[in-house]
Amino acid sequence: MNKTIIVSNRLPLQIKLNNDKLEVVPSVGGLATGLKSVHADGNGIWIGWSGLTEEELDDNLKSLVKQAVKKEKCEAVSLTQDDIDNYYLGFSNKTLWPLFHYFMEYTEFEHEQWQAYKRVNEKFAEVVLEHIEDGDTVWVHDYQLLLLPKLIKDKKPNTSIGFFLHIPFPSYEIFRTFPWREEVLDGMLGADLLGFHTYDYERHFLSSVKRIMRLEVNFNEISMADRTIKVDSFPMGIDYNKFHNAALAHLNQDESQKSELQKRLDDHIQSDADTKLVLSIDRMDYTKGIPNRIRAFEYFLNKYPEFKEKVRLIMLAVPSRSDVPQYKKLKRETDELVGRINGQFATVSWTPIWYYYRSMPFENLIDLYTSSQVALITPIRDGMNLVAKEYIATRTNGHGVLVLSEMAGASKEMNEALLINPNNFEQIADTLKIALEMPEAEQSRRLHILQKRLKRYSVEKWADEFMSSLNSTKKYRETSITR
Ligand code: ADP
Ligand code: G6P
Repeated sequence: MNKTIIVSNRLPLQIKLNNDKLEVVPSVGGLATGLKSVHADGNGIWIGWSGLTEEELDDNLKSLVKQAVKKEKCEAVSLTQDDIDNYYLGFSNKTLWPLFHYFMEYTEFEHEQWQAYKRVNEKFAEVVLEHIEDGDTVWVHDYQLLLLPKLIKDKKPNTSIGFFLHIPFPSYEIFRTFPWREEVLDGMLGADLLGFHTYDYERHFLSSVKRIMRLEVNFNEISMADRTIKVDSFPMGIDYNKFHNAALAHLNQDESQKSELQKRLDDHIQSDADTKLVLSIDRMDYTKGIPNRIRAFEYFLNKYPEFKEKVRLIMLAVPSRSDVPQYKKLKRETDELVGRINGQFATVSWTPIWYYYRSMPFENLIDLYTSSQVALITPIRDGMNLVAKEYIATRTNGHGVLVLSEMAGASKEMNEALLINPNNFEQIADTLKIALEMPEAEQSRRLHILQKRLKRYSVEKWADEFMSSLNSTKKYRETSITR
């Protein structure tokens, strides 16, 4: 029976090592949910890095990891500390991530890291090739594995290969600065179907293929000597029902079921019914526009002082890639800005910003989403931004306003949100005021349209549409061979 092999840098599970004991926690993240049915189907497997390095595991632990991972229908790719330093923290997160998000000034071009990137993509290919059988389908995910499609295609030309990029593909003028541009495009072109979140990313990719690889592009098909590659956009959705139902259940909680966080949020609401909460949630990443958001909030409080003591920004930042210097710098800058603004504006009964730097369990995310009248999501660049979609899904009481950066892929499908340019403080401040004062009927009208759309284009639908498009490229190849 043919199977689908999913490949991503991280496996959809977390392995923790506590006093030499392994703890395996399956991931509840968007990608894992969306691919659940593809993964669960038949003998499907998921290949990726376990999150632990070779150096952390002795032989006994290695075999325990192997067994634990296998139980979840996964296979681990074994990576050394050197791989993590140069392939993951290095080339993936100091070169590709900033370059593809238009942060040229943060982008490093280091030959040693490029070598590590190639070596680790080959390690992934080895594990895939060990498990692949004729007729199987492979779906590769994201910027850490751009070379993998070709590494598989060269060895197994009859395999159907899909690739999805979860971050933006930059414009040609940015991409052309990249020293290894041909090798990377060549690697991606090993796929039969290439998927992007938005039409713009797709267009940028095709433009680079035309101008750098000098290949013929017809509408959304690339003609190679021996085959045709399809390129399309598939905006990723969320597990709408999960967020919506969790929010509905949340409404009916009695006092004993409430989290400590929810009690604190309730206290805030009860102390002054007019005070509103403005929420932001992101990984602590320089692409997310965190300092901009704080500065814009400061600007808002100065421009509209009547909102002092009437509005509070709750900012949840999840620690991420903290061994990369730019992320450390961002954390320092954020701490300082929050401290400065709280110091400047706080009164005996009011602190303008509540700032959490930690990961939170799902229940607490729901507490935050359901308690906040406005979500302020201001990335400088973002492939999609699922938080914006999750906020909308949890607004079960018909109220809530989303202020969203037009630089997030999600903005393309969320025209009913209030869209802003994250670099324009004046506009953010004015829009925040509009959001806080929006009549309930207007909030409801916008929410209703957004919710209907998000419900229809769920993450399961995203995965189904990608897989059926990939299957159609397979059928096309088979009929052209027999012709
Ligand atoms: P990115 O993929 O760049 O991190 P997204 O907004 O697309 O940004 O996705 C972030 C995901 O992480 C969302 O599904 C969100 O629910 C989840 N998440 C965000 N903050 C936390 C947190 N503190 N704890 C757990 N999960 C979180
Ligand atoms: C983004 C990327 C993913 C990545 C995730 C978390 O969503 O597109 O590929 O897994 O961030 O980042 P991390 O570096 O912790 O895997």
